[in-house]
Amino acid sequence: MKVTVSAPGKITLLGEHAVVYGKPALVSAINRRLYVAVEGRSDSAIRVSALDLHIPGLILTFKEGSKDYLIETDYDRIVDAMAYVRKAIEISSKHLASKSGVNVTIRSEMPVGAGLGTSAAIAVGTISAYTRLLGHDLDPEEIARLGHMTELSVQGAASPMDTAISTMGGTLFIRPTSGKPKIEKLRLGVGLPAVVGYTERESRTSDLLKRVKVLRESTPKVVDSIMGTIGYAVEEGKDALLRGDLEVLGRLMNVNHGLLEALGVSSKRLNDMVYSSRSAGALGSKMTGAGGGGCMVALCPGREDKVEIAIRVVGGEPFRAALSGDGVRMESAEK
Ligand code: PMV
Repeated sequence: MKVTVSAPGKITLLGEHAVVYGKPALVSAINRRLYVAVEGRSDSAIRVSALDLHIPGLILTFKEGSKDYLIETDYDRIVDAMAYVRKAIEISSKHLASKSGVNVTIRSEMPVGAGLGTSAAIAVGTISAYTRLLGHDLDPEEIARLGHMTELSVQGAASPMDTAISTMGGTLFIRPTSGKPKIEKLRLGVGLPAVVGYTERESRTSDLLKRVKVLRESTPKVVDSIMGTIGYAVEEGKDALLRGDLEVLGRLMNVNHGLLEALGVSSKRLNDMVYSSRSAGALGSKMTGAGGGGCMVALCPGREDKVEIAIRVVGGEPFRAALSGDGVRMESAEK
């Protein structure tokens, strides 16, 4: 039997990093998805094929007159992605007290490891497909919980934000607590026309989380007050979103970007895309995800074309994102 599911990527409208320290966040699923197909095997092995992770592959450099090649790969990022598959299968098997060898195939419509929550989509997609293959139909809360355990185990630290949005979809207001996170699915009266800009990421989520932790250890009052301010921005942003006030939401995104920059997780390339989008008329723009390169998002109703050009001019790759897409969903089950 072969089960295929898909899970969406996400953009954080407001609140990444602070959400790891218990502050709320506002996050939307996007219409770019990651597909996980799981097929049973007769033995107990796990074989994973990654077909298209939008990771720049192999770079070969050679000098004229020399036989030597310098080979660079993004092998690390592929291995990282695989770690989530493996852990998700291990955690699901334990949860169900049942297991099977499987062939797993992953295909992504978005760059992996770039701030769009793809590690959560891999975890959630694998858990959902694998548990279905074993004949179980877990409810979304359970899938999100096992997904969060997977991220925690692979990364060392993670908020429940990415796995919740990848499971539930839509736009969520999420407040972590020591027990079950408080999750509110927001009913929006307005569309959120956005453009995402992508630039290659220089660091991993786990490294950026560590960077913030180290900064907080050396300057706790400063960092805690930044986190607190991000939390207020999220609360005011939620109200603005619910009353359809995209101007205020945009302003808060700008404030949030400044605070993320203060935490040291933005980069020159991200900043270039963020500021050029604003010059092109975006209501607000900020980096999204852990940072260190990767993705930014611009809220830009009616200015999408101009913002796309502005992002391209500074060397980023833009794409339009429809926000508030479906959560994890079954695509097919073949005997
Ligand atoms: O860059 P991503 O897609 O892994 O997002 C990370 C978001 C953080 O808030 C920085 C971490 C987390 O677990 O919430």
